[in-house]
Amino acid sequence: MIPRVLSGIQPSGNLHIGNYLGALGNWVKIQHEYESIFCIVDLHAITVYQKPDELRASIREIAGIFLAAGIDPKHSKIVVQSTVPAHSELAWLLTCVTPMGWLERMTQFKAKAAAQESVGDGLFQYPVLMAADILLYQANVVPVGEDQMQHVELARDIAQRFNSLYGETFTMPATRLATVGARIMGLDDPTAKMSKSATGAGHRVGLLDPPDRIRKTIMKATTDSNSAVDLDTMGPGVKNLLAIYQAFTGWTNDQMRAHFTGMRYGDLKKQVAEATIASLEPMQQRYRDITADPAYLDGILQAGADAVTPVANSTVRLVKERMGIYTPSR
Ligand code: TRP
Repeated sequence: MIPRVLSGIQPSGNLHIGNYLGALGNWVKIQHEYESIFCIVDLHAITVYQKPDELRASIREIAGIFLAAGIDPKHSKIVVQSTVPAHSELAWLLTCVTPMGWLERMTQFKAKAAAQESVGDGLFQYPVLMAADILLYQANVVPVGEDQMQHVELARDIAQRFNSLYGETFTMPATRLATVGARIMGLDDPTAKMSKSATGAGHRVGLLDPPDRIRKTIMKATTDSNSAVDLDTMGPGVKNLLAIYQAFTGWTNDQMRAHFTGMRYGDLKKQVAEATIASLEPMQQRYRDITADPAYLDGILQAGADAVTPVANSTVRLVKERMGIYTPSR
């Protein structure tokens, strides 16, 4: 049997080169080795307040970017989470076997809750919904960044607990892929991972940013107190710029060292900016073509939902049967 891969991305904020080099680009590369499902998790996004118009736009934008980046809709399923009600349904069923103490330990919950005036219950349940995304499809592999690892571990714990209470039902998902994407840091603060929601103007390069803006953002990136590249003493800002260049070009470490050693930071930034622009250009062109026809995008999302719904529904039915709640006799 071909293993199933599942991952998800929240439609909140702008997708950036960190999302592409760390996740999406990797999904594109590995998609054909698996039965692949990529979710746009709108139900996760609303665990903190989203402006409805922005959320609506962001869901379509991400679907367009998935396609433009090379997710192949003939092979991989692109699914908007809320279009498959079984996600919510399984989440409730799993909520009932998840001890609150497990959720209280989640570091993302603690961090996000600390930043909110009023913490919705949805934020607390967030990891259970994520477990439902994964377990609904009996996914074998869940490629995520370091920051989501604790949630995947929790999904395993929930699966295990369910299996021991009600009998073998869920496949244990593995966390890691053989290849891991680059970890791109904020351009204004290279000690924190590039984020969709950080508000600093110079923080990220968006996947749809025009060339001028990309140049501006990269030219302003934080470096260190040296003036020219020295790979042995460089600070995190320079390291990040080089990581971006290397990820986009696929150069070897030797090529990187030979080319960049001694280069002044101004020139380094120019080269990183041009490599980024050149790499994003074809994707941006495809994005414009794809989104010129909204019905095309709707069709892809409908097909994704239709394709995965039978699997999702059969998992929910099995879970209900195992738990003893009402299921109509066949
Ligand atoms: N919580 C993940 C993130 O913010 C997104 C996500 C939701 C996800 N459901 C998932 C990732 C299922 C992998 C599998 O990055």
